[in-house]
Amino acid sequence: MTTNKLAVVVLAAGKGVRMASDTPKVLHQVAGKAMLQHVLDAVAPLGPERVVVVVGPGMDQVAEAASPHLSLVQEPQHGTGHAVLMAKPALDGYHGAAGEGDVLVLFGDTPLVTVATLERMVALRRAADGPTLIALGFRSPQPGNYGRMVLDTVDSRLVRVVEAADASEAELAIDLCNGGLLLGHGPSLFALIDQIGNDNAKAEYYLTDVYGLAERNGLTTRVIKTSEDEVMGVNSRSELATAEAVLQRRLRDRALAAGATLIDPETVWFSHDTRLGRDVVVEPGVFFGPGVSVGDGARIRAFSHLEGAEVGAGTVVGPFARLRPGARLEDGSRVGNFVEVKNATLGPGAKANHLTYLGDATVGAGANIGAGTITCNYDGFAKHRTEIGAGAFIGSNTALVAPVTVGANAMVGAGSTISKSVADDALAVTRGPHRAIEGAAAAMRAKKQRKKT
Ligand code: UD1
Ligand code: CA
Repeated sequence: MTTNKLAVVVLAAGKGVRMASDTPKVLHQVAGKAMLQHVLDAVAPLGPERVVVVVGPGMDQVAEAASPHLSLVQEPQHGTGHAVLMAKPALDGYHGAAGEGDVLVLFGDTPLVTVATLERMVALRRAADGPTLIALGFRSPQPGNYGRMVLDTVDSRLVRVVEAADASEAELAIDLCNGGLLLGHGPSLFALIDQIGNDNAKAEYYLTDVYGLAERNGLTTRVIKTSEDEVMGVNSRSELATAEAVLQRRLRDRALAAGATLIDPETVWFSHDTRLGRDVVVEPGVFFGPGVSVGDGARIRAFSHLEGAEVGAGTVVGPFARLRPGARLEDGSRVGNFVEVKNATLGPGAKANHLTYLGDATVGAGANIGAGTITCNYDGFAKHRTEIGAGAFIGSNTALVAPVTVGANAMVGAGSTISKSVADDALAVTRGPHRAIEGAAAAMRAKKQRKKT
């Protein structure tokens, strides 16, 4: 009865009432990625032949997030068993007398499951005497609202799962919980789902009833155990925060194992896709939004905020730097405190060390951007570019009114407002003439003092 054909059903139709949100639950993010996407990414390496996402009515955003996978609408929502049934029309060949192939059911609100655990389920199922159904379980000191798994005391096969709302005192005391994920022989699974009733506390068709039904039908079921961390369900903002904390811990461990130094790991926040090279040092209080890569040997100094940025090898960023999408720091460049970079490239060895905004700009190799330099990239209607050549020197407190070009090795005097292009090797300065009146300050002070007394 074992097979290599696999279809995946992801349940995501629930309204997620406890999130108290206008956003569908499975689109809430963990480490910068929607929960649904975490689940879809976890199943991809299994190479499923088909992936079907069950969504609620009007959840166009969820369907969009699920694409290119097929989504089917469940309306009304009569429970997890009913939800799996909605996927049946898309699973030709996985049910009925002539059907074969395995079906893996996952919940869109269980985002932390790993590929390794899914592979363990698949391996057990494909083993010579593989069970018909495999459930993923975990032990919890606080089983709360999770379904409880009742095992046979002799051979520890799964006898049934009882939902917390329907459990007796004795069953509530069971600490083995149902993680919700299920892998089974498709035709058997759908035959069992057809037998599910809704005579329970919630008047719903519980998917979890398939285990008790399998027992009665003489089919074998097994539990694969994993940690609560991996299968915790997210039903509220509080559980979302817990899931975030778990994933952050994982991402920090991954960065450390890959050869980055995190001086105080707990204060560094990663995105699911943050990439750090070898011997990168990250100081405390750094936040990585999505789409950041950092080259070997770079140092990200304390309290910097980076997203959508490509940081080259040997660069130094911060403290208190902000790299926004499209920031590209080439090798050995330097971005210092209170510097914001957006959609701008700093060439190799270029420096912007203090209090600067570089937006929609290109800064050539080795150029030096003085403190307080601002690219005035927006005229209230459109964005314009600033091009600064290699080796240029921009004096402090310069406003570069884009579109504008400063040539290679050119110099701009401090305090200038540059709105016309500056040629290579030229010196531009737009400061007003210096005037000083001897003794005038003392005279003024004396006059004011007389008035006051
Ligand atoms: C479910 C399990 C419980 C398990 C827990 C693990 C059932 C009956 N209970 O409980 O044993 O311990 O998950 O986290 O399966 N959904 C639909 N359509 C529906 C109902 C739900 O698509 O009609 C989806 C939800 O969007 C969600 C998932 O199924 O992604 C689980 O539903 P939820 O209501 O969160 O189930 P739990 O009460 O957490
Ligand atoms: Ca849940």
